[in-house]
Amino acid sequence: MDLREAIKKRRSVRKFKNKTIPREEIAAIIESAIAAPSGKNLQPWHFTVVTGEKKDALVELLVKTTKKLIGQGVNTGSCLGSARAMDEAPVLILIYNTRGNPQKPPRGSARYRWSVDIQSIGAAIQNMLLEATARGIGSLWICDVFFADEEITAWLGRKDELVAAVALGYPDEEPQTTPRKPREAVTKWEEG
Ligand SMILES: Cc1cc2nc3c(=O)[nH]c(=O)nc-3n(C[C@H](O)[C@H](O)[C@H](O)COP(=O)(O)O)c2cc1C
Repeated sequence: MDLREAIKKRRSVRKFKNKTIPREEIAAIIESAIAAPSGKNLQPWHFTVVTGEKKDALVELLVKTTKKLIGQGVNTGSCLGSARAMDEAPVLILIYNTRGNPQKPPRGSARYRWSVDIQSIGAAIQNMLLEATARGIGSLWICDVFFADEEITAWLGRKDELVAAVALGYPDEEPQTTPRKPREAVTKWEEG
């Protein structure tokens, strides 16, 4: 599959077949992630691959935390839906910003460095999704894990910053194309 085809074909998949993904495929997806550019080539990413009973426990933790928040009147949006997709997917990859400290939110010039790191990690995540698509593997980029970021991070025994999760699995649906704002509406040409 060429690049344009992968870009066009990628969709957020939320229903997965009950079929494991070979380890080499997951490794190849992470290889593409780490090929992404990063500010000052700092490569501020870390990938934790979670499968099987460990994934079940992680999803349970997210659901438990989300239900607690709902009980407190917090609007958790699509979080329980995301948890269901995570439950169906055979593989979940948690992506961390190794330079981020959740105890110390960035301020001043640290915000600029933080933004650079998050952009670098975003590029790595997009590479993962495109590599997965090219291999016939469905993916879902998930930020709803933020509803339980402290709990998940403590559970994994990490101290850095959770950025997102990516669910991977063989698609059990063909998601519709989602609308995009027209190019003209989001582009301005300042030609000299
Ligand atoms: C940063 C980011 C966070 C997202 N978080 C979630 C999420 O938590 N749960 C979910 O179901 N989809 C999530 N998505 C998927 C978006 O809903 C999806 O990309 C968008 O609706 C466009 O659809 P498409 O991916 O099929 O083109 C996220 C996407 C991005 C880029």
